[in-house]
Amino acid sequence: MDRYAVVGNPVAHSKSPQIHAAFARQTGQALGYERVLAPLDGFAATVAAFRAEGGRGMNVTVPFKLEAFALAERRSARAQAAGAVNTLAFDSEGIFGDNTDGAGLVRDLTHNLGCPLAGRRILLLGAGGAARGAVLPLLAERPAALTIANRTAAKALALADAFRAEAGTAALDGCGFPELAGRSFDVVVNATAASLADAAPALPPGLYAPGALAYDMMYGRGETPFLAAARADGAERRADGLGMLVEQAAESFLLWRGVRPDTAPVLAELRRDLAAR
Ligand code: ATR
Repeated sequence: MDRYAVVGNPVAHSKSPQIHAAFARQTGQALGYERVLAPLDGFAATVAAFRAEGGRGMNVTVPFKLEAFALAERRSARAQAAGAVNTLAFDSEGIFGDNTDGAGLVRDLTHNLGCPLAGRRILLLGAGGAARGAVLPLLAERPAALTIANRTAAKALALADAFRAEAGTAALDGCGFPELAGRSFDVVVNATAASLADAAPALPPGLYAPGALAYDMMYGRGETPFLAAARADGAERRADGLGMLVEQAAESFLLWRGVRPDTAPVLAELRRDLAAR
C-alpha cells in the first residue's frame, strides 16, 4: 500500500489524515496516510527516513514549509513563487516540491463559494508566508486589482514589487492599513497571523463594497475575530478557511494520485466535527 504522511511540529492537531482517508475511500485508492512528528532540528532526516521506508509523498506543515522548499530538488512554478512547499512527492527522479495552498484558496473562493475573481478588486491582508503563497494564484484569476496591505507597510510594498512582472492587466499595489481608508473591495482575504493572538487586524472602516466577501484563512469553532470585525464593517458574505484546508489537500491528492476527489462531502464532515467540538 502506498504510504503518505503529514510532517510537522506539532502535528497531533492536523486534520490531514482524516481528509486524505476520506479522499482515499471515496476514490477507491489504496493508500495509507500517517502523522509524522519531526524534531525541530530534524526535518530533512525525518523526510529521508520516511522516503527510505517506501513513503511516496508528504504534506508539510508548520514550521517546515521553508525547509521543504530547500529540500526539494525540483519545484512547481507555484512553489517557486510562494517560496515555500507544502507538498512533497517522491519518485525515481528525486524529491518534487509543490505548493497547493494558494490553489486551495482560489478553488474554495471560486468553486465552493461561487465567488469569481476575474475583474474583481481583491484586498489581501498580510505579507508573510501565507500571503505570499496566495499572490500568484490570485493574479492568475485576472482580477481588476490586487492590493496587498500589511501592518508593516514596507513588507506589503516589497511583496507587491516581487510579483510586478506577473500582474498582467491587474493593478497591483502594496500599502499599510491606514492607507486603505476610503477604498473598498469585492473580496478581502485575511492572511495575517492576527487570529493566532485572538485579534483582528486594525483596519479602517468601509472596506467592503456591496455584496463583498470577507475570507479568513483561519478557521475555528465560532466566528474568527477577523470575520466578526468584517460583519461589523458590513461585509455581506463571510467564510472561514476550512474550505481552503480541504481544497489544498485535494490538490495534493491530485498531484499524488492523478484523481481529484469530491471535496464537498469531506468539507461537510469537517464542518460537522467542528460544530460538535
Ligand atoms: P505566516 O506564514 O502565517 O504568513 P508570518 O510569515 O510570520 O506567518 O507572517 C505573519 C503575518 O501576520 C505578517 O503579515 C504580520 O504582520 P507584520 O509583517 O506587520 O508582522 C501579520 N500579523 C501578525 N499579527 C498581526 C496582528 N495582530 N495584526 C495585523 N497583522 C498581524
